[in-house]
Formats: sequence, C-alpha cells, structure tokens
Amino acid sequence: MCGIVGAVAQRDVAPILLEGLSRLEYRGYDSCGICTISNGSLRCIKTTQKVRVLMDMVRDEGCPGKTGIAHTRWATHGVPTATNAHPHIVGTLSMVHNGIIENFAQMKETLVKEGYAFKSQTDTEVLLAQIHFLHVKKGLPLKEAFATALRGVKGSYALALIDSEDPDTIYAARYGSPLVIGLGIEENFVASDVLALLPVTRRFIYLDEGEIAVLTTKSVRIYSLDLVEHHHEICESDLDAESISKGKYRHFMQKEIFEQPEALKNTAMGRLGADNADLSSITGFDPKLLEKTDCIKIVACGTSYHAGLVGKYWLEELAGISTSVEIASEYRYRRAVVKDNTLFITISQSGETADTLACLRLAKKQGYSASLCICNAGSSSLVRESDFAMLTRAGAEIGVASTKAFTTQLLSLLLITLYLGRTRKTISAEEGRKIVNAIKALPDAAREVLSGDEKIKELAGRFADKHNCLFLGRGIMYPIALEGALKLKEISYIHAEGYAAGELKHGPIALIDETMPVVVVAPDNALLSKLESNIEEVRARGGRLYVFSQEGSNAFKDDRQTNIIKLPAADPVLQPILFTLPLQQLAYHCAVINGTDVDQPRNLAKSVTVE
Ligand code: F6R
Repeated sequence: MCGIVGAVAQRDVAPILLEGLSRLEYRGYDSCGICTISNGSLRCIKTTQKVRVLMDMVRDEGCPGKTGIAHTRWATHGVPTATNAHPHIVGTLSMVHNGIIENFAQMKETLVKEGYAFKSQTDTEVLLAQIHFLHVKKGLPLKEAFATALRGVKGSYALALIDSEDPDTIYAARYGSPLVIGLGIEENFVASDVLALLPVTRRFIYLDEGEIAVLTTKSVRIYSLDLVEHHHEICESDLDAESISKGKYRHFMQKEIFEQPEALKNTAMGRLGADNADLSSITGFDPKLLEKTDCIKIVACGTSYHAGLVGKYWLEELAGISTSVEIASEYRYRRAVVKDNTLFITISQSGETADTLACLRLAKKQGYSASLCICNAGSSSLVRESDFAMLTRAGAEIGVASTKAFTTQLLSLLLITLYLGRTRKTISAEEGRKIVNAIKALPDAAREVLSGDEKIKELAGRFADKHNCLFLGRGIMYPIALEGALKLKEISYIHAEGYAAGELKHGPIALIDETMPVVVVAPDNALLSKLESNIEEVRARGGRLYVFSQEGSNAFKDDRQTNIIKLPAADPVLQPILFTLPLQQLAYHCAVINGTDVDQPRNLAKSVTVE
C-alpha cells in the first residue's frame, strides 16, 4: 500500500526520496509524487505513472531542497489522478499519508464553512486543511496543531508533514499504519519501511501507535498525541541494501521462488532436535503456556490464511489439537466464543496487515491464553504486539505475490505442530525423528522440484490463453489448490478457483467442458483413490486435466485429455510445501507469457495496511 519517504538533511534530498520510493514500489501503487522546500517555498511534482517517470520529471523540472517528502499512492478515496496523488498542499503546508481518515466527511463540512476549498477528492487534503486551520487560523504552533488534529481523527494514518515557513523540520505520526524513523549523521529520515532507507542508514526507531515525531538534522524527538515526550531504543537493521536486488533473475517473484530452498533451511535452522522441534528461538517463548493449549484459533488474510488452513490439518491430525482458521476481515466483525486454554495465532508476511492486526488487538480482550504470530518481518507491529513471535526468516519478499513467505509459514506451522505433538505424546519419538529427518531433507527436495521449471514453462505455454481454470485438491492439499488458484489469478489475471475435489459435484462440475483446464494436486496419500474418482468425473465431461502427481505413482495415465506432471517422491509430511512450488512456477510463467506486471500486478498492494 502507500509508501512514505521523508528526509531532512544538509544536501538535496530528492535523490534520497526517489531512491526510497523506488524501493517501496513493491508495495503496489497507482500514482506518486514528491515535495521539497526550496528557497522558502514548496516545490511539488506528481504523476499517475511509475516512479521512474517521476525521476525523469524531477531531473527535467528540478526539485532542489534539503527537506522533503515523497509518496507512492494506492487509491482509497478518489481515483488515481495527479491531483489526488500526494503530497497535498494547503497554504505553506504539505503532507503525505498512508491510511484512511474515516471521519473526513464531517471534518470537510466544517472546514468548507470556514472557507476552505478542496482540489482533490482525498481524505488527506481534508486532514491537512484541518491542521492548517488549527495552525494558521487558531494560532497553535504546528506541533500542537498536528497533535490536536490527530486527536480528532477516526481511522488510521502514517503521516509526514512539512512547512515551508519552518524549512528544517519534518513532523511525522503513526496510528494503524507503519512508519519508521531513520537516523543519519546530521540528517534524519522517515519511511513506511526500513527497505526505503537502507542506502542512507541502518539505524532505526520504530514509532508506536499514536506517536508523533519531530525530525530536524540535529535531533529526533518523539511524543504521545498529548505531547508527552517518549524515549525509544535505537534498533540496528541487519538487512542490507542488496536485499532488494533482482540479481540474475528477471523478476523478484522468480528470484523468490528459487530462494525457497535457502529460505526453508533458514526457517529450520537451530529449531530441530533429534526427534522434536526446538522452539526456544520464539520471542517470549513460554513452554508451560504452549503446553497447556487445548485449542488453537488461527487468523490471517490471503495466502497467509491458506497457510493457516494447512496448519489446521497438521495440528489436528498430528498434535490432536482442535484448531479453527478464519479470515481476519471476517473474524474482527463477529462475536467469537473462546474456550479456555485457546492459543490465538496470527500469520502474516508483513506483520502490518490491518485486518490481522485488528484481530490480534481484539483477541487480547477475548480471553485467549496467549497470542503467537508467525511473521516474516521482525520489527513489525504484529511481532511487537504479540506475546510470542516465530519469525519465518524468509528474507525480504518484494514480489507482491507471496511465495517464499508462504512455504516458510508452512514450515513454521509444521515445527509448531511437531513440538506440540511431541509434548502431548500424539507424535512418538520415532515419528518425531522421521519428521525431523524429512525437514532436514526439505531444502534439497525443494531444489529438485524447482529444477522442473522448464517443464512447467512449457505447460504454461498451453495454459496462458485460457480464461478460466479450476484447481482441485483433497485433504491437506485442498488449501494448496486454493493457493495455486490465488497465485494464478493474481498475477496472470486468468480467473481461477480452488475447490475441495469432493465438492465438484455439488456445483462447479457444471463448468466442465473441453475448454476448461482443471489442475489437480494429487500426491500419493490416503485420499488418492477418492481423488481419482473425482478426476474421472471431470474426464467423463471432456475436461482437460493437468495432474501434479509424483514419481512412482501408478494412479494416472497420460492421454489426450490428461497431462501428468511428476514431482520427485518425498516424505508425505512435506507434500503441501513441495506441491506448492510448481503451482507458483505455473502462475509465474503464465504471467510472463501474458505480459502482465509480475511483481506489481494491477490493483494489488504488498502490505495491506488499510482495512
Ligand atoms: C497473495 C498475497 C496476499 C497476502 C495477504 C496477507 O500472494 O500475498 O494474499 O498473503 O495480503 O498479507 P500478509 O501475509 O502480509 O498479512
């Protein structure tokens, strides 16, 4: 979602701001802009095109100044136009915003009566006018006007504000949307994400909810909304600027697909014993609390929700723990009944997804025994606000479509299942040892599956012109079918749906004809014969089948209607992880053939920080 960068320095800041914006492009956006303070006045350039076009405009038109803010916008209020793009300007003030001001309409009504006129359709311009009103018309110093306006806001925000009459200061604030302060030498920065600032600093302060920061070249001071000063620790980031380079790959998504063997190795590193998982690296780890867990509630969105669904199969089958999984945007608006000793688990790549975060905050009031998050972003809000955090260690994921974050989430859930199963003795020492050995073999097994890329590319060639597609799976492979369908639709724009294969005859079978490709995720497991019957139902109606099976399986025969893609045989517990990989490759190659924007598909944002 929207990206913010701000800098106050003793050199021109436009290059820092533009580099920062290009590092935030992965979050998804539809317009962008920059505003600096130059010779006591505001210099603002905006476009509905990509950041590289903004760079050209800045080069051609000039945007000098030692203090400035910049933004990539993902439209919420108002269509993507240059007028609606940020930064917005009211008088001598300019501001960028990530989030949604829910009560902007009431604010606007009052401001119109005070004589304010609005150029854009955005909630941001209204909030800026409110700050301007309090500062200029009510005479409050800008810091107080900023805090007073924010105390009246309903909704979420990350903000950076500058004033051409106070040219050496940036005012920033956050509530419900991420914002980080970067500390340099005689220069300071603000951004939505540390990645934006890695070329200029590795020292950061993470603002808490409802905090304001005042940045100059000499100092960074942080306050509550009541202007009580707060003190924060400085965190050193271990990411480097190279974390967001494509290396030899054409797209980030392709790089991230091939990084999975390494990412999975990192997830498991130091977390395996002889026949059990070692979870002591979980922050706040409390074995007693985890061991008395009777039930688990998992809440997440999108791909992370699919990981949760796989987790349910493992946790119930292997650890014998009653588990339910819910979509965060649903959970947060219904009355939930919480049984004693229920552990609340959130899963998120970014740790900033607004709905998931809202569920965590709600869960804290609902009587859960504890909250655990499985997350890829160590300094995210979700990690900071959960009792325990298990980091997936996938490394920076830039492609909007989640790949390595998903498979490392799966492995994290498997490690948690192993630990809980061993503790509750639903997994014997021998079974535990077998799972540990399977996990040790996982990076190589993943590498071997990924080496089938050329075959999948060829398959994609037969696929990419289709308009619709079904993905089928049974049991634990059902969520993998859902994930395969989500990957295909989000990056190639081919309409795809995942179904539990047994549901076919309850409706979707009406869609089957010779033009409808049906992808089946079919490893050898206890449900294979059931799945075969479902496949026969498709064949009988002329459907075209693409079956992901495994070496040594006699279950399917290649023929005019059926394409079999064989994966290397591996331990059954790894099947959900390994069978995900060719589905990611299929989606990737279809997208490349269809010429879509693989890393930043239309309308999508990497980090969904608004509801
Ligand atoms: C799809 C995808 C999204 C995210 C979802 C949740 O490829 O990436 O569905 O999984 O937006 O995001 P996180 O995991 O950051 O909470």
